[in-house]
Amino acid sequence: MNVHMNQMPQTASHSRIGTGEAQAAIIQSDCLDERIARQLMKRGRDLDHYDGVARFFHWVFAAGIIYASVAGYALAELPGGPERDFLSRLNMSVATVLIALFPLRVWWKFVRNEPRALAGVSDAQNALAHRVHILIYVTVFAVLASGFLMVPNGYSFFGLVEIHTPFVKGALTDELFVIHRASCALLAGLVVLHVLAVVKHQLINRNNVLRRML
Ligand code: HEM
Ligand code: HEM
Repeated sequence: MNVHMNQMPQTASHSRIGTGEAQAAIIQSDCLDERIARQLMKRGRDLDHYDGVARFFHWVFAAGIIYASVAGYALAELPGGPERDFLSRLNMSVATVLIALFPLRVWWKFVRNEPRALAGVSDAQNALAHRVHILIYVTVFAVLASGFLMVPNGYSFFGLVEIHTPFVKGALTDELFVIHRASCALLAGLVVLHVLAVVKHQLINRNNVLRRML
């Protein structure tokens, strides 16, 4: 009875307002549900999605690293001359953009909300993916630092400004070149593994891993 009494005023108020107003109220409440449903869906999607800043950094670094690797290995085959010098300067300039962005990317990695673990993948596999990502960060740091430090007497950034480097040509810059070559080879290997893992998850496991980064 109490329940019935509690419902009375609502029923009465509905009957007091006109049919049009009642429909508007119902549509309004539907909209509210739809809005909540949309918000929940968005929140669900956000939990499986890297945020915009992380995606921006990921794709800028992916493009820069793939370009610098291809150009770096092509340079190793090219004979000396103006084309080689031009390509070499272009390569160093592109890599310098990554040097400027790298600390921001690392900072963002620490403060951002990580997406939840990929569904249908074992904890061990998720932990492995996480470790490979960290190793990629460390290797990118080694490549950028050794590349910068090994260049004797500075270089021109896109022909706009002279960038000064700390060392003159000598045994130290030669050793740094060895480190640069080794870290570039490691990075290339890790990136190939990384891309193969993404392709495998996307095409074989079909867990739409790529959407997390798009
Ligand atoms: C076309 C090439 C590439 C594709 C298709 C690709 C795709 C992806 C995808 C789908 C993820 C999310 C993985 C997950 O949620 O478990 C991811 C994460 C990641 N990728 Fe790539 N990637 C590419 C190239 C690269 C390159 C060149 C690097 C080297 C820096 C890289 C470094 C990373 C890192 C470190 C992560 C972890 C998320 C982060 O901290 O940014 N990726 N990638
Ligand atoms: C995105 C990061 C970088 C990648 C992926 C990369 C990649 C490479 C590769 C694959 C080589 C050829 C190595 C070999 O002969 O075995 C190379 C050479 C070289 N790199 Fe890098 N590098 C990067 C960053 C840098 C930076 C920051 C600098 C300096 C500012 C630099 C300067 C050079 C130089 C001077 C060479 C020797 C070839 C030449 O005359 O240009 N690299 N790099």
